[in-house]
Amino acid sequence: MIDLALVPVAGWGTRMLPATKSQPKEMLPVGRKPVVQYVIEELVNSGIRQVLFITGQGKTSIENHFDIDAPLITYLRETGREEQLQDLQFEREDVEYFYTRQRRQLGLGHAVLCGKAMIGQHPFVVALGDSIIGRHAQSDIVSRMTTVFEREKADIVVCFEEVPAEEVVQYGIAKPKGAVGEVFELADLVEKPSIAEAPSRLAVAARYVFSPEIFEALAETKPGKGGEIQLTDAIRILLKRGRKGIGVKLAANEQRFDIGNFESYFQAFIEFALHDPQYGPALREHVRKLLG
Ligand code: UTP
Repeated sequence: MIDLALVPVAGWGTRMLPATKSQPKEMLPVGRKPVVQYVIEELVNSGIRQVLFITGQGKTSIENHFDIDAPLITYLRETGREEQLQDLQFEREDVEYFYTRQRRQLGLGHAVLCGKAMIGQHPFVVALGDSIIGRHAQSDIVSRMTTVFEREKADIVVCFEEVPAEEVVQYGIAKPKGAVGEVFELADLVEKPSIAEAPSRLAVAARYVFSPEIFEALAETKPGKGGEIQLTDAIRILLKRGRKGIGVKLAANEQRFDIGNFESYFQAFIEFALHDPQYGPALREHVRKLLG
């Protein structure tokens, strides 16, 4: 049973400046909660009990967010606002947190490599701290992926989302081996292909399961653009060596919300807020008026 996840949150978030100048993009709210809280709630629902955050400079608010805030709890009690304690219930999740810092932002692959000493010889999940899966994180994709990892004796499991043909140019795209169902075998990954050259419309979607061999592949991976070590390159090294890679497709109701750029951040915020049980109905009215 895989119960360990590495959550990289050390990136600069330059595409979201100035919002991210002095706060992490992973702490931006989407509706009521910061992005990374959705990520942790999703992981806990999929059986994760240990989380290793890869943090960096300017990211301490993430650590503070997952602390148990005794003075705040006392204050809410003493001022008769017991019902608001519900909003802090996530502090009590059955999960242990660990933190280490990526001291230089050398890419996602390098961030994962920073977890090597702690993860040791265990298989583990990687969940990007800036991506929510499913509206209000209602998804058990990680549990489906860890089940497939164990059942298929895989070395790599990657989550994919089907994207429109014109969007393949923005993502790592799956080259499947054989027929594509909800679960399929992975021949290779192609980084940002042209529409004509894309082997599928299945885009890598922010969740992975790895055997510890990924660390050896990452250590061998040559830095690419901007000196960054790409996780995709390390996966490709393992696939070339004949290691077993499996793709798992997100269901139609499990959209990936990428909070790494303003376009999809705005879309996610609106969608989550419109579906807020308390404020959603009035907001719908307001938006209708605005749209005239
Ligand atoms: P992105 O690929 O969106 O990179 O990160 P970024 O550097 O944060 O963003 P831009 O391009 O400057 O706008 C995907 C996830 O990987 C983490 C990020 O924090 C994010 O959760 N990451 C990325 C790291 O932990 N370290 C890195 O060096 C890069």
